[in-house]
Amino acid sequence: MRILVTGAAGFIGSHVAEALLARGDAMVGLDNFNDYYDPARKHANAAAFREHPACTFYEGDIRDLEALEALFERERPAAVIHLAAMAAVRYSVKHPLLYEDVNVRGTLYLLEMARRYDVQKFVLASTSSVYGATTKIPFQEDDPTDKPLAAYPATKKACELLAHAYHHLHGLSVAVLRFFNVYGPRGRPDMTPYTFTESILQGRPITLFAEGTPHRDWTYIQDTRAGILAALDTPLGYEIFNLGCSRPVVMRRFVELIEEYTGRRAIIEHAPLPPSDPMVTYADVSKARRMLGYEPTVQLEEGMRRFVDWFTGC
Ligand SMILES: NC(=O)c1ccc[n+]([C@@H]2O[C@H](COP(=O)([O-])OP(=O)(O)OC[C@H]3O[C@@H](n4cnc5c(N)ncnc54)[C@H](O)[C@@H]3O)[C@@H](O)[C@H]2O)c1
Repeated sequence: MRILVTGAAGFIGSHVAEALLARGDAMVGLDNFNDYYDPARKHANAAAFREHPACTFYEGDIRDLEALEALFERERPAAVIHLAAMAAVRYSVKHPLLYEDVNVRGTLYLLEMARRYDVQKFVLASTSSVYGATTKIPFQEDDPTDKPLAAYPATKKACELLAHAYHHLHGLSVAVLRFFNVYGPRGRPDMTPYTFTESILQGRPITLFAEGTPHRDWTYIQDTRAGILAALDTPLGYEIFNLGCSRPVVMRRFVELIEEYTGRRAIIEHAPLPPSDPMVTYADVSKARRMLGYEPTVQLEEGMRRFVDWFTGC
């Protein structure tokens, strides 16, 4: 099967691309290598797979409808794994127009291409952030998601809704995957695992919000990747799945793990929780378990050990 992966040079995209090629699929990668974080990292991510004979790689933008059309005409992908996005919550507070443009318009263009070119399956990256500041835990897929705390989750919710419309009107098979705090090798340099590990190793202070009491349901990349491939392979109409670890860990403990694995003490500065951030993320993964055979296998203790090993080049 020929599969288009958007955002293929990113953190999650590069792991998915490698896995598809390893199992024998033909893969078409698309990424615009934007400079939200250092494009050299993305080129390094893509270098891991782009010379593979079953890979075709396009440097381009999901907002370029003409280029998308040419790509679909040439490649005729049977499935799309749509990961390209502006992905950080706090950055969206200052750049909401960019998020609307990339996430909503870009996703709509891809859905339109999927309809026109008879794509069999559309896997859409969404986020745990759509649950907002809900106090009902763990989060279940049919919980209310109509009170986002920032533009980023609002745009992702819009993508979920647009995908539903394409399913309803055109029979497109859609898997919406709500990822929970994904981390691991090649992890995004703006995310906490990376920034805290880097600061602790360099003897610079880290900022802990709300006295380190927020909880996060960290998901190791290998588990997220397995969930994405299962969603790709499972026949579905329109379904939403939480892909988390289902084991939230308090931030203070998260810092202790990095201290243990780096052998350094953290210098901690405290700050209030930003209004864009929830106190807790916590996935109920029973639906993904039941319908996709998804099973998180790497707990934070092991995952952060592997992350610090990768970070330090061990
Ligand atoms: N990492 C997480 O914890 C997490 C959590 C929830 C949801 N997600 C979602 O998962 C997906 C992948 O996230 P990631 O962490 O790998 O982020 P990432 O930033 O590493 O990857 C996204 C990739 O998309 C590309 N991209 C952005 N705009 C583009 C455009 N207009 N055209 C073409 N390519 C474009 C970027 O260059 C980047 O390589 C995103 O949709 C994100 O919203 C991630």
